[in-house]
Amino acid sequence: MSYNNILSATEDHITTITINRPSKLNALNRETIQELHDAFEAADHDKNTKVIIITGNGEKAFVAGADISEFADFNVDEGGMLAARGQQLLFDFVENLSTPVIAAVNGFALGGGLELAMSAHFRVASENAKMGLPEVSLGVIPGYGGTQRLPQLIGKGRAMEMIMTARMIDAGTAWSYGLVNHVTALDELMPFCKQIAGNIKNNSSVAIGAAIKAVNANYKDGVNGFEIEIQQFANCFGTSDFKEGTSAFLAKRKADFPGE
Ligand code: COA
Repeated sequence: MSYNNILSATEDHITTITINRPSKLNALNRETIQELHDAFEAADHDKNTKVIIITGNGEKAFVAGADISEFADFNVDEGGMLAARGQQLLFDFVENLSTPVIAAVNGFALGGGLELAMSAHFRVASENAKMGLPEVSLGVIPGYGGTQRLPQLIGKGRAMEMIMTARMIDAGTAWSYGLVNHVTALDELMPFCKQIAGNIKNNSSVAIGAAIKAVNANYKDGVNGFEIEIQQFANCFGTSDFKEGTSAFLAKRKADFPGE
Protein backbone atom coordinates (compact mmCIF):
# COMPACT_ATOMS: atom_id res chain seq x y z
CA MET A 1 0.00 0.00 0.00
CA SER A 2 1.35 3.48 -0.75
CA TYR A 3 0.65 6.53 1.38
CA ASN A 4 1.15 10.29 1.05
CA ASN A 5 1.82 11.14 4.71
CA ILE A 6 3.18 8.03 6.38
CA LEU A 7 5.73 5.28 5.81
CA SER A 8 5.23 1.66 6.82
CA ALA A 9 7.95 -0.98 6.75
CA THR A 10 8.16 -4.48 8.21
CA GLU A 11 11.42 -6.09 9.21
CA ASP A 12 12.00 -9.09 11.41
CA HIS A 13 8.29 -9.26 12.44
CA ILE A 14 8.27 -5.60 13.58
CA THR A 15 6.25 -3.06 11.56
CA THR A 16 7.38 0.53 11.95
CA ILE A 17 4.80 3.15 10.99
CA THR A 18 6.37 6.61 10.60
CA ILE A 19 4.34 9.79 10.30
CA ASN A 20 6.04 11.67 7.50
CA ARG A 21 5.05 15.34 7.41
CA PRO A 22 8.19 16.80 9.04
CA SER A 23 7.66 20.28 7.52
CA LYS A 24 4.38 20.44 9.52
CA LEU A 25 5.93 18.73 12.53
CA ASN A 26 3.92 15.63 11.57
CA ALA A 27 0.61 17.31 12.47
CA LEU A 28 -2.36 14.98 12.02
CA ASN A 29 -4.57 16.12 9.17
CA ARG A 30 -7.61 14.15 8.03
CA GLU A 31 -5.71 12.23 5.35
CA THR A 32 -2.95 11.25 7.78
CA ILE A 33 -5.49 9.92 10.28
CA GLN A 34 -7.12 7.80 7.54
CA GLU A 35 -3.74 6.54 6.34
CA LEU A 36 -2.69 5.67 9.89
CA HIS A 37 -5.93 3.74 10.33
CA ASP A 38 -5.26 1.82 7.12
CA ALA A 39 -1.63 1.09 8.04
CA PHE A 40 -2.48 -0.06 11.59
CA GLU A 41 -5.28 -2.25 10.26
CA ALA A 42 -3.00 -3.79 7.62
CA ALA A 43 -0.26 -4.47 10.18
CA ASP A 44 -2.75 -5.99 12.62
CA HIS A 45 -4.02 -8.37 9.92
CA ASP A 46 -0.50 -9.25 8.77
CA LYS A 47 0.51 -12.59 10.34
CA ASN A 48 4.15 -11.61 9.82
CA THR A 49 3.79 -8.57 12.13
CA LYS A 50 4.16 -9.31 15.85
CA VAL A 51 4.77 -5.76 17.14
CA ILE A 52 4.03 -2.29 15.75
CA ILE A 53 6.16 0.78 16.51
CA ILE A 54 4.69 4.22 15.78
CA THR A 55 7.05 7.18 15.47
CA GLY A 56 7.49 10.52 13.69
CA ASN A 57 9.92 11.43 10.94
CA GLY A 58 12.66 13.97 11.69
CA GLU A 59 14.47 14.89 14.88
CA LYS A 60 12.01 17.47 16.08
CA ALA A 61 8.54 16.02 16.38
CA PHE A 62 6.64 12.84 17.02
CA VAL A 63 3.40 14.71 16.25
CA ALA A 64 2.77 18.41 17.08
CA GLY A 65 -0.97 17.85 17.31
CA ALA A 66 -4.06 17.78 15.17
CA ASP A 67 -3.66 19.99 12.10
CA ILE A 68 -4.96 23.33 13.39
CA SER A 69 -5.37 24.72 9.86
CA GLU A 70 -8.03 22.08 9.12
CA PHE A 71 -10.42 22.83 11.97
CA ALA A 72 -9.94 26.54 12.70
CA ASP A 73 -13.29 27.47 11.06
CA PHE A 74 -15.33 24.45 12.19
CA ASN A 75 -18.74 24.85 13.88
CA VAL A 76 -20.10 22.83 16.82
CA ASP A 77 -21.35 19.92 14.69
CA GLU A 78 -18.16 19.74 12.68
CA GLY A 79 -16.10 19.81 15.90
CA GLY A 80 -18.13 16.91 17.28
CA MET A 81 -17.66 14.91 14.10
CA LEU A 82 -13.92 15.64 14.04
CA ALA A 83 -13.45 14.18 17.53
CA ALA A 84 -15.81 11.24 17.02
CA ARG A 85 -14.32 10.23 13.68
CA GLY A 86 -10.74 10.57 14.94
CA GLN A 87 -11.41 8.56 18.09
CA GLN A 88 -13.07 5.78 16.13
CA LEU A 89 -10.60 5.64 13.23
CA LEU A 90 -7.36 6.01 15.12
CA PHE A 91 -7.21 6.51 18.86
CA ASP A 92 -9.68 3.87 20.12
CA PHE A 93 -8.71 1.70 17.19
CA VAL A 94 -5.03 1.63 18.18
CA GLU A 95 -5.76 1.08 21.87
CA ASN A 96 -7.90 -1.96 21.05
CA LEU A 97 -5.61 -3.60 18.48
CA SER A 98 -4.57 -7.12 19.40
CA THR A 99 -1.04 -6.47 18.07
CA PRO A 100 1.09 -4.62 20.64
CA VAL A 101 1.82 -0.99 19.75
CA ILE A 102 4.85 0.90 21.14
CA ALA A 103 5.02 4.68 20.68
CA ALA A 104 8.60 5.87 20.06
CA VAL A 105 8.23 9.54 21.02
CA ASN A 106 11.07 11.28 19.20
CA GLY A 107 10.31 14.96 19.91
CA PHE A 108 7.20 17.11 20.40
CA ALA A 109 4.12 15.04 21.27
CA LEU A 110 1.46 17.69 21.67
CA GLY A 111 -2.32 17.56 21.63
CA GLY A 112 -3.33 14.80 19.21
CA GLY A 113 0.31 13.69 19.20
CA LEU A 114 0.34 12.93 22.90
CA GLU A 115 -3.14 11.45 22.53
CA LEU A 116 -1.82 9.11 19.83
CA ALA A 117 1.15 8.14 22.02
CA MET A 118 -1.28 7.48 24.91
CA SER A 119 -3.41 5.23 22.67
CA ALA A 120 -0.36 3.02 22.12
CA HIS A 121 0.08 0.20 24.64
CA PHE A 122 3.16 1.88 26.10
CA ARG A 123 5.64 4.65 25.34
CA VAL A 124 9.39 5.24 25.12
CA ALA A 125 10.71 8.81 24.72
CA SER A 126 13.96 10.33 23.52
CA GLU A 127 15.68 12.85 25.80
CA ASN A 128 14.60 15.79 23.60
CA ALA A 129 10.90 14.84 23.73
CA LYS A 130 8.37 17.35 25.03
CA MET A 131 4.82 16.34 25.84
CA GLY A 132 1.68 18.34 26.52
CA LEU A 133 -1.99 18.93 25.88
CA PRO A 134 -2.02 22.61 24.83
CA GLU A 135 -5.65 22.66 23.61
CA VAL A 136 -7.03 25.12 26.18
CA SER A 137 -4.50 27.68 24.89
CA LEU A 138 -6.43 27.43 21.59
CA GLY A 139 -9.86 27.69 23.25
CA VAL A 140 -10.71 24.03 22.92
CA ILE A 141 -10.11 20.83 24.95
CA PRO A 142 -8.41 17.56 24.00
CA GLY A 143 -10.84 15.65 21.77
CA TYR A 144 -8.97 12.49 20.88
CA GLY A 145 -9.24 10.84 24.30
CA GLY A 146 -6.72 13.03 26.15
CA THR A 147 -9.03 13.96 29.03
CA GLN A 148 -9.60 10.25 29.67
CA ARG A 149 -6.24 8.58 29.00
CA LEU A 150 -3.97 11.17 30.64
CA PRO A 151 -5.60 10.81 34.11
CA GLN A 152 -5.57 7.00 33.66
CA LEU A 153 -1.83 7.11 33.05
CA ILE A 154 -0.57 9.82 35.44
CA GLY A 155 -3.44 10.45 37.90
CA LYS A 156 -6.12 13.12 37.99
CA GLY A 157 -4.21 15.92 39.71
CA ARG A 158 -1.21 15.86 37.37
CA ALA A 159 -3.48 15.51 34.34
CA MET A 160 -5.60 18.45 35.45
CA GLU A 161 -2.47 20.59 35.89
CA MET A 162 -1.09 19.64 32.45
CA ILE A 163 -4.43 20.29 30.75
CA MET A 164 -5.17 23.57 32.59
CA THR A 165 -1.69 25.06 32.20
CA ALA A 166 -1.34 23.81 28.58
CA ARG A 167 2.37 23.50 29.40
CA MET A 168 4.78 20.93 28.09
CA ILE A 169 6.70 18.50 30.29
CA ASP A 170 10.13 17.16 29.40
CA ALA A 171 11.04 13.50 28.97
CA GLY A 172 12.41 13.14 32.51
CA THR A 173 9.21 14.50 34.06
CA ALA A 174 7.13 12.26 31.77
CA TRP A 175 9.17 9.30 33.01
CA SER A 176 8.74 10.30 36.66
CA TYR A 177 4.95 10.57 36.06
CA GLY A 178 4.87 7.10 34.48
CA LEU A 179 3.73 8.56 31.16
CA VAL A 180 6.69 6.97 29.37
CA ASN A 181 8.36 3.73 30.43
CA HIS A 182 11.90 4.61 29.33
CA VAL A 183 13.96 7.60 28.15
CA THR A 184 16.83 7.14 25.68
CA ALA A 185 19.19 9.26 23.62
CA LEU A 186 17.52 10.21 20.32
CA ASP A 187 19.75 7.94 18.22
CA GLU A 188 19.08 5.05 20.62
CA LEU A 189 15.29 5.41 20.52
CA MET A 190 14.46 3.10 17.61
CA PRO A 191 17.10 0.44 18.43
CA PHE A 192 15.83 0.42 22.03
CA CYS A 193 12.17 0.09 20.95
CA LYS A 194 13.14 -2.71 18.56
CA GLN A 195 14.94 -4.45 21.40
CA ILE A 196 11.76 -4.36 23.53
CA ALA A 197 9.76 -5.50 20.49
CA GLY A 198 12.25 -8.38 20.18
CA ASN A 199 11.42 -9.41 23.75
CA ILE A 200 7.71 -9.39 22.89
CA LYS A 201 7.63 -11.01 19.47
CA ASN A 202 8.62 -14.57 20.42
CA ASN A 203 5.80 -14.84 22.94
CA SER A 204 2.33 -16.04 21.96
CA SER A 205 0.66 -13.31 19.88
CA VAL A 206 -2.74 -14.85 20.68
CA ALA A 207 -2.07 -14.65 24.42
CA ILE A 208 -0.76 -11.09 24.07
CA GLY A 209 -3.95 -10.07 22.22
CA ALA A 210 -6.02 -11.64 25.03
CA ALA A 211 -3.95 -9.80 27.66
CA ILE A 212 -4.53 -6.47 25.89
CA LYS A 213 -8.31 -7.09 25.93
CA ALA A 214 -8.23 -7.98 29.63
CA VAL A 215 -6.08 -4.99 30.67
CA ASN A 216 -8.18 -2.57 28.58
CA ALA A 217 -11.37 -3.92 30.20
CA ASN A 218 -10.27 -2.26 33.44
CA TYR A 219 -10.84 1.12 31.80
CA LYS A 220 -14.22 0.46 30.18
CA ASP A 221 -17.36 1.68 31.91
CA GLY A 222 -19.83 -1.03 32.84
CA VAL A 223 -17.37 -3.83 32.09
CA ASN A 224 -16.11 -6.16 34.80
CA GLY A 225 -12.41 -6.59 34.04
CA PHE A 226 -12.11 -9.67 36.25
CA GLU A 227 -14.87 -11.37 34.23
CA ILE A 228 -13.16 -10.44 30.96
CA GLU A 229 -9.90 -11.82 32.35
CA ILE A 230 -11.60 -15.14 33.15
CA GLN A 231 -13.10 -15.33 29.62
CA GLN A 232 -9.82 -14.45 27.92
CA PHE A 233 -7.87 -16.83 30.19
CA ALA A 234 -10.32 -19.64 29.33
CA ASN A 235 -10.12 -18.93 25.57
CA CYS A 236 -6.36 -19.40 25.68
CA PHE A 237 -6.88 -23.07 26.60
CA GLY A 238 -8.44 -23.66 23.17
CA THR A 239 -5.51 -22.23 21.19
CA SER A 240 -2.65 -23.96 19.40
CA ASP A 241 -0.30 -21.45 21.04
CA PHE A 242 -1.27 -22.78 24.48
CA LYS A 243 -0.66 -26.38 23.37
CA GLU A 244 2.71 -25.37 21.93
CA GLY A 245 3.77 -23.22 24.92
CA THR A 246 2.96 -25.85 27.53
CA SER A 247 4.38 -28.80 25.55
CA ALA A 248 7.56 -26.88 24.79
CA PHE A 249 8.00 -26.11 28.50
CA LEU A 250 7.45 -29.74 29.50
CA ALA A 251 9.81 -30.97 26.76
CA LYS A 252 12.41 -28.40 27.87
CA ARG A 253 12.57 -26.80 24.45
CA LYS A 254 11.92 -23.28 23.16
CA ALA A 255 8.32 -22.67 22.09
CA ASP A 256 7.64 -21.93 18.43
CA PHE A 257 4.19 -20.35 18.52
CA PRO A 258 1.97 -20.76 15.45
CA GLY A 259 0.04 -17.59 16.44
CA GLU A 260 -3.32 -19.40 16.43
N1 COA B 1 -1.15 22.05 13.10
C1 COA B 1 -0.79 22.55 11.92
N2 COA B 1 0.45 22.97 11.63
C2 COA B 1 1.38 22.84 12.60
C3 COA B 1 1.08 22.32 13.86
C4 COA B 1 -0.26 21.91 14.09
N3 COA B 1 -0.63 21.37 15.26
N4 COA B 1 2.20 22.34 14.61
C5 COA B 1 3.17 22.85 13.84
N5 COA B 1 2.68 23.16 12.62
C6 COA B 1 3.40 23.75 11.47
C7 COA B 1 3.63 25.23 11.66
O1 COA B 1 2.47 25.97 11.27
C8 COA B 1 4.80 25.45 10.73
O2 COA B 1 4.32 25.47 9.40
P1 COA B 1 4.86 26.60 8.36
O3 COA B 1 6.35 26.40 8.31
O4 COA B 1 4.16 26.27 7.08
O5 COA B 1 4.48 27.92 8.95
C9 COA B 1 5.61 24.17 10.89
O6 COA B 1 4.70 23.20 11.40
C10 COA B 1 6.77 24.30 11.87
O7 COA B 1 6.24 24.77 13.11
P2 COA B 1 6.83 26.04 13.90
O8 COA B 1 5.75 26.56 14.78
O9 COA B 1 7.44 26.99 12.94
O10 COA B 1 7.98 25.34 14.74
P3 COA B 1 8.58 25.86 16.12
O11 COA B 1 9.80 25.06 16.36
O12 COA B 1 8.72 27.35 16.13
O13 COA B 1 7.49 25.50 17.25
C11 COA B 1 5.86 24.08 18.33
C12 COA B 1 7.19 24.16 17.53
C13 COA B 1 5.50 22.60 18.46
C14 COA B 1 6.06 24.68 19.72
C15 COA B 1 4.76 24.85 17.57
O14 COA B 1 4.75 24.41 16.20
C16 COA B 1 3.38 24.66 18.12
O15 COA B 1 3.05 25.22 19.14
N6 COA B 1 2.52 23.88 17.42
C17 COA B 1 1.15 23.71 17.78
C18 COA B 1 1.03 22.76 18.97
C19 COA B 1 -0.43 22.61 19.37
O16 COA B 1 -1.07 23.52 19.85
N7 COA B 1 -0.95 21.40 19.18
C20 COA B 1 -2.27 21.05 19.58
C21 COA B 1 -3.22 21.17 18.46
S1 COA B 1 -4.88 20.80 18.98
